[in-house]
Amino acid sequence: MSDNKVILNYDGKAFEYPIIDSTLGEKGIDISKLRDQTGLITLDRGFKNTGSTISTITYLDGDKGELFYRGYPIEQIAEKSNFTEVMYLLLNGNLPTQAEYTNFENGIKKYNYIAEEMKKIIDVFPRSAHPMGVLSSLTSALTAFNPKAVNVAVKEDLDHAAEMMIAKFAHLCAWTYRKTQGLPLNHGDNSLNYVENFYRMAFRKPNEDFVMDKVVVDALDKLLILHADHEQNCSTSTVRMVGSAHTGLFASISAGVSALWGPLHGGANQAVIEMLEMIEKDGGDVAKYVAKAKDKNDSFRLMGFGHRVYKNFDPRARIIKKAADDILNALGIHDKALDIAMQLEKVALEDDYFVERKLYPNVDFYSGIIYRALGIPTEMFTVMFALGRLPGWISQWKEMRLLGDPIGRPRQVYQGYTPRDYVSIENR
Ligand code: CMC
Repeated sequence: MSDNKVILNYDGKAFEYPIIDSTLGEKGIDISKLRDQTGLITLDRGFKNTGSTISTITYLDGDKGELFYRGYPIEQIAEKSNFTEVMYLLLNGNLPTQAEYTNFENGIKKYNYIAEEMKKIIDVFPRSAHPMGVLSSLTSALTAFNPKAVNVAVKEDLDHAAEMMIAKFAHLCAWTYRKTQGLPLNHGDNSLNYVENFYRMAFRKPNEDFVMDKVVVDALDKLLILHADHEQNCSTSTVRMVGSAHTGLFASISAGVSALWGPLHGGANQAVIEMLEMIEKDGGDVAKYVAKAKDKNDSFRLMGFGHRVYKNFDPRARIIKKAADDILNALGIHDKALDIAMQLEKVALEDDYFVERKLYPNVDFYSGIIYRALGIPTEMFTVMFALGRLPGWISQWKEMRLLGDPIGRPRQVYQGYTPRDYVSIENR
């Protein structure tokens, strides 16, 4: 390897591959000519070493436990910004001026309602349906009501599509919750900001005046900010992959919702609370569950522990842990699940198995405790994650389309049968 290229010796020949520079973190080897030149492909299951694109949106350093949105450290953003501003930042690259902020907020408010026919669609789902399944279906159904393709060459088209998606998605998230509770479905209120509007749409009771609780709104705002983007994770890569076929924005986001649902990804926040409740019911023996997690013959894993990229700590978890303490204090709640979580964290962090594998609590370990304190049911946790991740998905979709990334189409190393002749059924 020289400074700016890598030399591969294969089959008696040397091939050179350029190094692609980065402003922070890993550089990449550009192997786009590899197959043509050598007949070889790379094999990297789970894409642990593979950069799928060049991006300028989010950077995270897994060894140092750092996360930046468009260059701003997550700690500063979580303390000083708000979710609407973060959405603008991710989508547009810079913090907005006051005029840009107002314009963006008004753009979202323009779409702060949803087609009444959508109520008929949600009506036919059983009340027991998981909110993430309902959310993914409704997001896809939005396409039917807003069929105009996004012309990515026209900035206004991109901006409107983003604003529309942001406004309507908050309705869908609120509605999936209200469906599970049998509550009437609300439309937005333009006198409120984005998070207040969602909070009211989701939690307003038909028989009571709605009280806007600032502790809850601030907590939701912070949680949404912390989930807003996380570079090329599973759901984001899905959104980009689906969009790379020039599939529309809403359909691409619907695919992202499905990817997020999985318990190894966003679904972990639900799984964490279920695990903490299970440990509590089973007598609170934390050591027993740590032992189960370490046992290779047991499929149990400590949910909310470990991360594909963070091998030091997850900076979002650190902020959320403090926020969980503050919110529980402010609301005067004592949660046994938090006690178990603290014990689990302590035991795991001192255990060689977790230390050697660099397994630390991730964002999902504490977020569920806050959602629970705010009265949000467990099955809704991943929907809250989706609401937070939406601006990241849209920003990454937009970047992918503006970069003109080619259709995503990985290759494979085939190890199946070599060609053989068909045998008729009576001769098998
Ligand atoms: N409990 C017990 N062992 C674990 C855990 C865990 N939570 N996570 C990883 N390990 C072990 C794993 O068994 C393996 O051990 P060995 O080397 O002996 O085979 C080693 O650690 C490496 O694990 P891996 O599965 O190869 O790591 P990965 O990078 O493929 O997976 C992960 C990352 C997040 C899927 C995994 O750590 C996990 O399943 N964690 C629990 C689910 C969870 O909390 N997910 C939320 C992730 S953060 C939010 C998000 O992305 O949505």
